[in-house]
Amino acid sequence: MKANFVDGSVIEGSYAAIERIKKMLGGAAPRYYIETYGCQMNEHDSETIAGMLERMGYEKAAEKSEADLILFNTCCIREHAEKRTFGNVGFVKEIKQNNPGLITAVCGCMMQQREVAQRLRDRFPFVDLVFGTNELAVFPQLLERVMGGERVFEIKNIDGEIPEGLPIRRNEGFSTFVNIMYGCNNFCSYCIVPYVRGRERSRRAEDVVAEVERAAAEGFTEVTLLGQNVNSYDDEGLRFPELLRRVSRVEGLKRLRFMTSHPKDLSHELVMAMAETPNVCEHIHLPVQSGSNRILKLMNRRYTREHYLDLIRDLRENVPGVEITTDIIVGFPTETEEDLEDTLSLVREVGFSAAYSFAYSVRQGTAAARMEGQIPEEVKKERLQRLNAVIMESVNGANDKYMGVEGEILIEGCDRRGEPMMFGKLPSLKMVYVNGDESMIGNYYKVRITGTRFNSLVGELI
Ligand code: 5AD
Ligand code: SF4
Repeated sequence: MKANFVDGSVIEGSYAAIERIKKMLGGAAPRYYIETYGCQMNEHDSETIAGMLERMGYEKAAEKSEADLILFNTCCIREHAEKRTFGNVGFVKEIKQNNPGLITAVCGCMMQQREVAQRLRDRFPFVDLVFGTNELAVFPQLLERVMGGERVFEIKNIDGEIPEGLPIRRNEGFSTFVNIMYGCNNFCSYCIVPYVRGRERSRRAEDVVAEVERAAAEGFTEVTLLGQNVNSYDDEGLRFPELLRRVSRVEGLKRLRFMTSHPKDLSHELVMAMAETPNVCEHIHLPVQSGSNRILKLMNRRYTREHYLDLIRDLRENVPGVEITTDIIVGFPTETEEDLEDTLSLVREVGFSAAYSFAYSVRQGTAAARMEGQIPEEVKKERLQRLNAVIMESVNGANDKYMGVEGEILIEGCDRRGEPMMFGKLPSLKMVYVNGDESMIGNYYKVRITGTRFNSLVGELI
């Protein structure tokens, strides 16, 4: 599959605009604040925008109230995310009263829904710039127009192209994300992503490897490869298992992760690539969404409960200690008590190490929004509570098998609630708490598990 790339001349234009803005700022260091909603893909886009801003001379603001430019990178996966965005953008009005020169911008998936973007623009006259997910590369050009006094509203309808070569300012830490593909072709019937992120397109393998090399050189020892469905990565015939093997050979990379896998495309080759590549972590995020075959069909997921369980078997047989996490939706149109029971029994059967649960949220324009048999909100809420109780039981049960087990954790920070303890993750993503001090942050330590704590584990250094 051949992907389209943003033309080199456009990227050159972006760098030229960055330079012009830098000149215009004349050595001043205005401050920016980016508020990001939603998934890691949005986080990654925000890091790219931050990279461009810092090249112009902007510095990161600690608080929104101190900023000269506030950007909201929005999400529309569920209604709740949208409501929060409208509320928080509304608050900017007050900040602007104290700082009339403040630039306010809104971008991301929610803006890709034209009528929502228009509503936002009409309701908040102080918003200076609105742009979609396909305009990332031309952000400097758009900002330049805003600085020239224009109110800019730019959302392309076409399927996006891949921007390569933009600067990036990665969030602090030792773990970072590298995008391998954009968009989604699956059209799960509940999901808005294919409508706002466009068709699937894969980055070139050499660009991915080069970006991971740069991240490793900057000191990141853990990298997560990102895509809506990494299993359909295709760089003119080079598929995901091969990409994973290539990336795993990057020097300095201690841990390699990937997200998200679609059960319909997860191949035995990928399971074997995980098994045979030591720095690929023993963890897979494999959203099941439902345990009922009838609902899976209506969701257009294109696999069955039985197929999903076969995948789990294959993973557990070949990747020792593998942990599986998942996403589950309850209250999908027409879901019955029996369907819900199928989901609950699947959760018990698999023993997920974590499961993210959601009440179905109607997304206008998707196939499920048009289905009969929508479930009342209070029923969804009640089912979500029941699901969460089963998840909790299952996760805690799965923790017991860790007692006495040895493994390695990457220390990420200090938890100061009660007795201060350092925490970090095992390759399986399980969180482990240990005694220690802040000098340990960013380093790897061998631990033995001695107990459990809520959803996580307690260990001692060995
Ligand atoms: N309602 C509820 N949950 C949804 N998700 C995606 N779309 C919806 C929706 N309309 C969930 C899925 C997906 C996760 C990222 O968000 O479980 O895997
Ligand atoms: Fe949405 Fe399905 Fe694509 Fe995931 S695979 S982004 S749930 S359409």
